[in-house]
Amino acid sequence: MQKIIFDTDPGIDDAMALLFAELSPAIDLLGITTVRGNADIEITTRNALYLTERFDMAATVYRGAGQALVVPNTPVPDFVHGEDGLGNINPEPPKREASSLDAAQFIVDQLRRYPSEVTLVAIGRLTNLAHALELAPDVAGLAKAVVVMGGALGRDGHGGNVTPCAEANIYGDPHAADIVFGAAWPVTMVGLDVTMQVMMDEARMQRIRDGGEEEGRFVYDVSRFYADFYRNTGMTTGFPVHDSSALAFVVEPELFTKQTGPVRVVCDGIAIGQTIQAVGGDRPFEHWQGRPAQSVCVGVDAEAVLALYERTLCS
Ligand code: RIB
Ligand code: CA
Repeated sequence: MQKIIFDTDPGIDDAMALLFAELSPAIDLLGITTVRGNADIEITTRNALYLTERFDMAATVYRGAGQALVVPNTPVPDFVHGEDGLGNINPEPPKREASSLDAAQFIVDQLRRYPSEVTLVAIGRLTNLAHALELAPDVAGLAKAVVVMGGALGRDGHGGNVTPCAEANIYGDPHAADIVFGAAWPVTMVGLDVTMQVMMDEARMQRIRDGGEEEGRFVYDVSRFYADFYRNTGMTTGFPVHDSSALAFVVEPELFTKQTGPVRVVCDGIAIGQTIQAVGGDRPFEHWQGRPAQSVCVGVDAEAVLALYERTLCS
């Protein structure tokens, strides 16, 4: 089993990914850290607690950053995830409470406790990971891997979903993302280049609803708002499976193809939040020099990722 820390901003697709992680026999969920993104930090933390309580998960929730490192908070995307961050299902207030330990400190502690064993799965802004590096820069050398849902290289027209060149998780905290991609831990970016190819259609969602116990019914109900949003934007083949694709990479990395090279994040100007990878390594590009080569997913077996999700939810 792979030990993971699940860093998240639930979020409808985050909730879908959390249940995927919980039900996957390949995953050992060490803890859940929250960050502002799809909703304010109070709400994303409340949603994480609600999900762990409702589905009787063993993992503890650690509240994280409510503010990006440098850029001001922008309005939350309630038109994608609903005012409650969960498609307006109005969740019951959970009885569980978040740990008194801060998310970044939890990350540091777990990396020290299990050297080379822990994968950080970051499916929101990268603020908590940047804070962990700030607290203890050496922990980069202790992580097994960092898998990031975020960013875009712009392949097949998938440049951005907040601006033409910026994806939401990176746009929300570009400075944190640039720090995380520049640290000496192996990062894999699972960005829009691949997640926009993994489209969940209605027939599969109905099979998950009917074949997947309470979790299946829940992901169906919670995804209605999200599916409507994407349908209204003109997507006819379903909705993109962003966050669960990052989890799928952890479970079955062979379903993806990657390219390697240092990654920078644009931190100001009209292209703020853009992720740019220097590929090849035969040219000394000044701002990429001295940065570690990281991996970016550029191809995916979308059908196999969707089948993995369905199989796991219906197990
Ligand atoms: O751009 C998609 C990402 O932004 C997903 O992680 C979604 O949950 C939001 O955080
Ligand atoms: Ca997310």
